[in-house]
Amino acid sequence: MPEPSSLFHSLRFQLIASVVTIEIIMLSLLVWNNIAIIHSTHTDRLRDTANSMIQQIANTSGNYMVAVDYATLKDYLSNIISYKELAYIVITDRDDNSVIALGTKTPDLRPQIDTHPAQVNDGVFDISQQIQVAGQPMGRVLMGFSLALMDDAISKSRNRGVSIAFAEIVLTIIVTIIIGLGLTRRLGQLSIAAAGVEAGDYSVYVPTETNDEVGKTATAFNKMVSEVSRRTQQLLQEEKRTQQLLSENRLLIHKSHEVQEEERKYLARELHDELGQCLTAIQADAESIKDSAPKDKTRIIASADAILNVSAHIYDVVHSMMRRLRPSVLDNLGLEEALKEEIDGWCKRNSALACCYKIKGDLASLQEHTRITIFRIVQECLTNIAKHAAATRVNINLDSDTDKLHLTISDNGKGMNKNLYDNHCNMGLGLIGMRERIQALNGHFSYDTSPGNGFRILIQIPKNTGDKTKANMPAASAHEHSTTMDRKSTGCSHD
Ligand SMILES: Nc1ncnc2c1ncn2[C@@H]1O[C@H](COP(=O)(O)OP(=O)(O)OP(=O)(O)O)[C@@H](O)[C@H]1O
Ligand SMILES: [Mg+2]
Repeated sequence: MPEPSSLFHSLRFQLIASVVTIEIIMLSLLVWNNIAIIHSTHTDRLRDTANSMIQQIANTSGNYMVAVDYATLKDYLSNIISYKELAYIVITDRDDNSVIALGTKTPDLRPQIDTHPAQVNDGVFDISQQIQVAGQPMGRVLMGFSLALMDDAISKSRNRGVSIAFAEIVLTIIVTIIIGLGLTRRLGQLSIAAAGVEAGDYSVYVPTETNDEVGKTATAFNKMVSEVSRRTQQLLQEEKRTQQLLSENRLLIHKSHEVQEEERKYLARELHDELGQCLTAIQADAESIKDSAPKDKTRIIASADAILNVSAHIYDVVHSMMRRLRPSVLDNLGLEEALKEEIDGWCKRNSALACCYKIKGDLASLQEHTRITIFRIVQECLTNIAKHAAATRVNINLDSDTDKLHLTISDNGKGMNKNLYDNHCNMGLGLIGMRERIQALNGHFSYDTSPGNGFRILIQIPKNTGDKTKANMPAASAHEHSTTMDRKSTGCSHD
């Protein structure tokens, strides 16, 4: 059952209500007009009949009254009184005394004379006519015509008109309801189908049934739905393809990081094994030249010193390169020691900063790729702080719980306008690289910053994803450990 408000607003109701209202008004006017015409026709006819009858009776009666033959006059009038509309006939003499009175309701001798049947209010149309013979008054004829028959005819006409009007209204309502139902039923189908499409159901179909406007609308709707469905399918497929490409891309990045790290590891080993050995040999040789100089001792010693200095310098450079490429401490002592060494070195180099770090939890069981990722991210963050932050304090927290690794790096520097960066106005590779590394490990990367309020990086990495290669970690760092260190560097030192 529809709600009253929706019933009044429904197309079907409005259609029926307006058609029925117009029908009632027009038919009432029609019936009223017919009755008015019938009434005036009947009353005019009665007036004309009455006038001609009384005229004729007055003429005939005059002759009988001159002959004082009232018996014949009465016979004559008796024939006339049988006229069905006639209520009475009265003949009076010169003194207005009744000499003959016929009819059902004989009036007193001075009835109220009417001019037209339409103005009668006692149900009888009373008329009178002087009887004159050779210009001499002989008396009067009084006649009364009953309006009952005329009223009866008018009432019958009115009833018939009202019945016809009523039948027409009922018929109109039935036809309008049938048409309205057909129309609104199909519009209802359209609206239900549209709601289905809105809810994502593209299998809806509106039956066309006819070729009228609604049928054409249904056809157009069905075409539109199938087109929308086709394009939605296309979009979904494209989105699927994009997702697939994205995950392939992540896999590629993951692999490229692996390859990169492997390569760095190899280079570091080669540099160490080959170049390191060579430099050590040069040093040894230089020492031996220095020790065994027979003559021109000073010059030989100076050259040897120079070789020593250069080789020491080369060694420093190579060593620094090796650390940068692949911090051996990461493999030898594990992530925790590598981080400590990296942070300590950085703090020494940035002695104006107060640096506080806290490493907590089991880092030994982390997969190799996770360890390298954490190390590289800390490196990049520290570089960024030195480059951009102008900070006086840095906090690093690394917490490894059962399922996840949480890393937070924050500073109290100048920060930046995040919106500008997000709109690609300030693109660098550091933050993007961090995000990609973390996403490749199915982790979560975010940062929080605003001008004047420092920079804070938040990272979470699930411990059971990413690289499946289990690192050969030294047992020294494979235990739960907590380190807290507050440091205010006063100078710059190198490892
Ligand atoms: N700690 C920080 N404090 C203030 N601004 C920072 C900080 N870290 C990064 N930014 C801002 O974010 C930007 C992007 O950093 P990102 O590391 O991605 O690029 P970069 O350091 O400029 O260049 P790249 O790392 O590629 O050498 C920087 O240019 C800098 O404006
Ligand atoms: Mg950077």
